[in-house]
Amino acid sequence: MKNIVILISGRGSNMEAVVRALEAEGWPARIAAVISNKPEAKGLDFARARGIPTAVVANKEYGSRAEFDAALQETIDRFAPDLVVLAGFMRILTAPFVEHYAGRMLNIHPSLLPLFPGLATHQQAIDAGEKEHGATVHFVTAELDHGPVVAQARVPVLPGDTEETLSARVLVEEHKLYPYAVRLFVEDRLSIENGEVRILAPAETTSI
Ligand code: GRF
Repeated sequence: MKNIVILISGRGSNMEAVVRALEAEGWPARIAAVISNKPEAKGLDFARARGIPTAVVANKEYGSRAEFDAALQETIDRFAPDLVVLAGFMRILTAPFVEHYAGRMLNIHPSLLPLFPGLATHQQAIDAGEKEHGATVHFVTAELDHGPVVAQARVPVLPGDTEETLSARVLVEEHKLYPYAVRLFVEDRLSIENGEVRILAPAETTSI
């Protein structure tokens, strides 16, 4: 049984998608906690209603990034995570924090990385005249929105698309992509070799 800690900053719809898939598909995992850096994050309500332990580590209350990351790490580690899932967690993390969770921290980013790291990805895709856009799940490394890619989902960019219509189309795919990727981790099917992710075949089950 793997312990998953999910970090959010707001709406938490990706967190919700992971929780629902875990419950519906009976993964060998449990959500040990949902942690937010914003006390008002909407996603906390969903987690509380589900009986999932929640915690807030408010970045506003810390004088530096290093102090915040240290407090966050201490809170996360109380829940003994096998995996940390960043789900709309809007903070740039320090290198020691990222290093501490190397190989066991995933992020979802709303673009087809390496295209458009950072913010305003949907508008950037429209402005660049891209025909395709999407989302990426990757292992977190010290460089923002880089790190070995686990999986990507693609959507078309349609004529007349706005940031709103395009982000909505991508979000539908994010809600399938993130549960898929987290499940692969839970089932020990991800291996990082020379900085690239290899997806392993499902463990064979034999019944006699
Ligand atoms: C998602 O688009 C995610 O890819 C990005 O931030 C957004 C978070 O949405 N990192 P939600 O909080 O999961 O609803």
